[in-house]
Order: sequence, then structure tokens, then C-alpha cells
Amino acid sequence: MRRGVCYNIIINLNMDMLPIIICKDLRAELTAAIEHVRPDRLFVLTDTTTLKCCWPKIKDFSALSQAQMITIQPTDEAKTLDTLAQVWTALSEGGGTRHSLLVNLGGGMVTDLGGFAASTFKRGIAYINIPTTLLSMVDAAVGGKTGINFHGLKNEIGVFNAAFTVLLDTQFLCTLDAENICSGYAEMLKHGLISDMEHLAELLRFDLSNPDLRQLQNMVARSVAVKEHVVTEDPHEHGIRKALNLGHTAGHAFESLALAENRTVLHGYAVAWGLICELYLSTVRMGFPQSLLRQVVNFVKENYGSFTITCKEYDRLFDFMTHDKKNTAGIVNFTLLANVGDIRINQTANKDEIFEMLDFFRENI
Ligand code: GLY
Repeated sequence: MRRGVCYNIIINLNMDMLPIIICKDLRAELTAAIEHVRPDRLFVLTDTTTLKCCWPKIKDFSALSQAQMITIQPTDEAKTLDTLAQVWTALSEGGGTRHSLLVNLGGGMVTDLGGFAASTFKRGIAYINIPTTLLSMVDAAVGGKTGINFHGLKNEIGVFNAAFTVLLDTQFLCTLDAENICSGYAEMLKHGLISDMEHLAELLRFDLSNPDLRQLQNMVARSVAVKEHVVTEDPHEHGIRKALNLGHTAGHAFESLALAENRTVLHGYAVAWGLICELYLSTVRMGFPQSLLRQVVNFVKENYGSFTITCKEYDRLFDFMTHDKKNTAGIVNFTLLANVGDIRINQTANKDEIFEMLDFFRENI
């Protein structure tokens, strides 16, 4: 990939959070961040994939010369208590103290689990995220959500705790396969839907089957700015941060079903399918424009294919939705849209409406 356009945007979150830096010079930004923390011990967390594909791009930085490596298995299946214990053990055996620093180099699984490991080790040490997937750049690594899966439920255990800084370098996009680009892009699509028509139109025009990485880099900056704006308003998800859950109530249910049935589904694919479900509900309940629903359905169908479900799985999907941590007492909560950027949080739907939504999904995707 060509190096493309470099950004040097500094996005300030709130008082507890240091900036998200869209790096022009990762070496300089990381060195400055480490010097700021002045850790007594430095650890770098990778998974086996990012150890191979991403670590070589930074391992010669002199700021990392003393770093102790911790490497875990990749993919969401490894986002478990056992893997977390492996990281705690490595921190402990490596002489980690409350003044140590953990650098998470990887996708959402590494930044979520690493963030949680850091937030709980010795009651909390500083961590830096260097996201390497599109998904983690535009979503997972940004905004302070950390955690692991538990008892088959996604991100069931975790805490809100912001990274010391997030260093975003789009050079890592060239390490990704097409599926991982598509996966991250689904969160960008969500950011388009919750922001404005111009951004959404740009996203729907983009040729995802043959991505122009330079254009994608531009769109990443815009997408992260949407998330930053929402997270600044509401870091702990008491209100408007729920906008970021668009597509995720149904999406997490698809993901949990896939996990239970040993079907491999990347997070963003589940979100893309979840967006279809929840935009359908938005159309029925909030008057979201049908023409836009159709455009998003076509885009998702073309780029994400389908997730096969039968009516026999509706009850199970409904159960997963009622167990979603976004819900209270068995009521299924959705974030819906009356239009692009016109967000309606805390919407509920009953079982019949949810089954109708799943019918729409089955018939249209
Ligand atoms: N991924 C949604 C959020 O960060 O709130």
C-alpha cells in the first residue's frame, strides 16, 4: 500500500482521557507517550498475528528496546478469562508494578482484553492502544471500553477505563485481508448513519470490493471523529453513547448464535446484519426512510453476504437479545433512527416485533 495521506489530527476526549492521535510519525508519538508515562516496566501485548505482521513495523523503536513481549492467541474465541489470566501472569512474572505500562498492539480483541488486563492489574496500570485493524481504529480501541467474553456472552465482563492514549496509524491497514476491512467498515457505516447524510453517502458510494486505501484513510479520520464526539459527550454510556449501539442488539445476538454454533463470524459482519434489522425496525417504528433502508440493504447484501438463520433460531436469538448487557429486566433495548443522524435511544420492541424484524432480515439478506 502507498503510505497515502498522513493526518496529524489530535482529538481530545475528556479530562480523564489523553488524545487520540492520528499519527504522522508513530515512532515520535509513541516515544513521547512513553516518556510522558515514565514506566518502570514496559510490556507490549500482541496476538500471534500482530506479532508477525505488525510488531516488525515498530520493534526497532528505541523507546521499545526494554519492552517485554506478551503474546496471546488471536480471534474473539481467545477473549477469555484464561487468556486474561495469561496476561496477568506475564505482567506479574515480568515484575510489573502499578507504575508499569502496557502497550496493546492489535485489533479489538487485543485492545479490549489488554485494556481490561491493565485496568485490573494492581488495581490499574496505564495502557496505550495501537490499533492495527480497521475495526479497532474506528471503534474498539477508542473510548475506553475494555473487557472479555464470558459464558458465551460477548464483552460480559469489563470496565470503562480510557487508554492513556490511542495512537492511530493507518499504515497497518495494509496488513489486513478483505474480510477485516469489511468488518471494520461496518462500524464506519454505523458512524455514517448516526452522523450526517453527506458522510453516509460517501460511505455507500465507496467500492468496498476494491478499496482505495488512500480514500479509506481519509474516511477513517472522519469516522473516528464521529465516535470521539459521542464519547466526549457521554463516556460511560448513560445516554447519547448508546447511539453507538445501533445495529449491535441484533448484531450481538447473531454473534452469540455464531459462537454457540461454532460458526466463524467477524464482529463487523454481525454489525452489518444487525444494522439491517435495526434500520428495518427504525422504518416501522420511527419512519426512517424506506429508500435509505433499501440502499443500506443492497450495500450490505453485496459486501457482507448473508447470515443464514431459520425461524427455529428466533427464540434463541431473542434470548440472546434479552441477555444483552444493554438491557434491563428482560426488556430488549434498541437504538433506532428517525433519519440519518436523528437518533432515538432507549427504544424497546416486543417479541412479535423482533420476530417480524428477523423475518425481514431473512427475506431480504
Ligand atoms: N462500541 C461502542 C462503544 O464504544 O460505545
